[in-house]
Amino acid sequence: MKISILGLGYVGAVSAGCLAKEGHTVVGVDPNQTKVRLINEGKSPIIEKDIDTIIADRVANGNLKATTNIAEAIHQTEVSLICVGTPSQLNGSLDLHYVRRVCEEIAEALRNKSSYHVVVVRSTMLPGSVASTVIPTLSSIPGKSWPGFWRVYQPGVLREGTAVYDYFNPPKTVIGEVDTVRVTCWWRSTKISMLP
Ligand SMILES: NC(=O)c1ccc[n+]([C@@H]2O[C@H](COP(=O)([O-])OP(=O)(O)OC[C@H]3O[C@@H](n4cnc5c(N)ncnc54)[C@H](O)[C@@H]3O)[C@@H](O)[C@H]2O)c1
Repeated sequence: MKISILGLGYVGAVSAGCLAKEGHTVVGVDPNQTKVRLINEGKSPIIEKDIDTIIADRVANGNLKATTNIAEAIHQTEVSLICVGTPSQLNGSLDLHYVRRVCEEIAEALRNKSSYHVVVVRSTMLPGSVASTVIPTLSSIPGKSWPGFWRVYQPGVLREGTAVYDYFNPPKTVIGEVDTVRVTCWWRSTKISMLP
């Protein structure tokens, strides 16, 4: 599949490298030009066992690249994984402003896309956040005639230090989807099939 990874921090960089290792065509997106340049030079933007070799190998192979241009990445792919940060606030709640912002950017990019697009949230959020924040923001552009999109929530289970191992050996896979269409994901084998 063609997959865009929105956010090239810890989770995004590991997901991008491992999905590309499994043969998918991956486009990473981040506003941070240094992270984008590092990926395109075949270098890892994070320190994590094995990820530097995987990224170097996949960039050389041609199925992993990065850009700062989210619209370009969304138009080149079928699935987007939101991997932006959701930092804790002083009162213990999660700051969702990066999620909100990236959803606005996805909505803007989907204006001119005619095919279905799957949006998967990997960022950590509390239950109810897809309904209260993600879907309203994705649907927020006035006058938008949607080509259609599917929303999926797949909470991440990665531990720093063993993230590549965890990716390929997840203790469990948890996926939530809200739609009348069926979305079946086998994250473990990284097969994502969409059933009309
Ligand atoms: N670090 C972990 O081990 C871990 C494990 C499981 C889940 N998570 C969750 O995954 C999420 C990401 O964590 P992380 O540690 O990778 O965060 P991070 O802060 O390291 O990386 C987030 C990246 O998103 C980028 N970004 C911000 N706005 C963007 C936008 N509009 N478009 C594209 N990129 C954008 C930032 O520049 C940054 O590179 C968090 O919600 C975190 O709680 C983290």
